[in-house]
Amino acid sequence: MSSNSQPIATVRDLRKSYGSLIAVDGVSFDIQEGEVFGLLGPNGAGKTTTISILSGILPPTSGDVSVIGLDTKTGGAPLRMAIGVVPQELAIYQKLTGRENLQFFGELYGIQGAALSARVTEMLEMVGLTERADDRAADYSGGMKRRLNLAIGLMHNPRLLLLDEPTVGVDPQSRNHIFEGVRALNKKGLTVLYTSHYMEEVEALCDRVGIMDRGKLIACDTVAGLIASLGGSVIEVGVDASEKLDQVADRLRQMPLIKEVELTAAESEESETPRVTISVRTQQPNRVLPPLVSELAEVQASIHSLNVREPNLEDVFLTLTGKNLRD
Ligand SMILES: Nc1ncnc2c1ncn2[C@@H]1O[C@H](COP(=O)(O)OP(=O)(O)OP(=O)(O)O)[C@@H](O)[C@H]1O
Ligand SMILES: [Mg+2]
Repeated sequence: MSSNSQPIATVRDLRKSYGSLIAVDGVSFDIQEGEVFGLLGPNGAGKTTTISILSGILPPTSGDVSVIGLDTKTGGAPLRMAIGVVPQELAIYQKLTGRENLQFFGELYGIQGAALSARVTEMLEMVGLTERADDRAADYSGGMKRRLNLAIGLMHNPRLLLLDEPTVGVDPQSRNHIFEGVRALNKKGLTVLYTSHYMEEVEALCDRVGIMDRGKLIACDTVAGLIASLGGSVIEVGVDASEKLDQVADRLRQMPLIKEVELTAAESEESETPRVTISVRTQQPNRVLPPLVSELAEVQASIHSLNVREPNLEDVFLTLTGKNLRD
């Protein structure tokens, strides 16, 4: 992240309605020059709508949105040149090769001749598609199509890159390519807005994160700041599934030292029996562990794992919204 903290984009009291449906409901935030800003939220939170308005594709119902000081409603060509968009829905021509796609979009942005071929080569290299450059995009794997989608958004060397769920449904190799590519570009000064359902990605990549839910920005801070706002620890106990666990959870929720109790189905390779993870958030794990274990012993729950960890963004999200990110 660069040291000069000028906002490259400002969003003020942004609202977008589709008839009676409010997709974005009074959202305000800044994106600082040089940072990776994350937008984290579940399906339908309003992330894509926000991105579409930032890029000037979609007009807001009300509010002020500007990028490099230009209003997105009227910014025209200078605004388009400053912004690169990597949409959630693939925007590539399946019948063209990877190279032809990049040439086409480069020309749209007015890049020509030797500069164009140099840029195409550079972008193919960056996303690891050099060897497949002359195959039709239709024949690419899902992850390769995502990588091409990213390269297209970068062709005109934008100052602000809007990445809408760039790693959804992508194999680990492509995911790494995209992830490392974004990191490297950011090191060179590119400002990035990164939306995702994957909190691990957001934790690892983003300087600051805005958490969206149902059209509202419900928190906005650094990853460390968001986690520190929760504080405490999370105790996770793996047990065999049993009907009695709900009663245990209810009793645990009565305990003043316990902030949150959650039961999640856990996958297990070693066991035929379904398993459940009980997660308990508390400021005082040492004092909560003994009653927690004895509550479980009371219902003859068989414990096979126990872990105490720091809270993460998923816990922040759960605390703020009462639900899991990926539900
Ligand atoms: N063109 C449209 N017409 C009507 N409703 C829309 C339109 N576009 C989006 N919406 C609605 O606006 C809300 C926000 O959608 P949006 O696509 O911004 O969410 P999102 O956070 O990007 O979700 P996802 O994680 O699933 O991509 C949803 O309820 C969606 O159904
Ligand atoms: Mg979306």
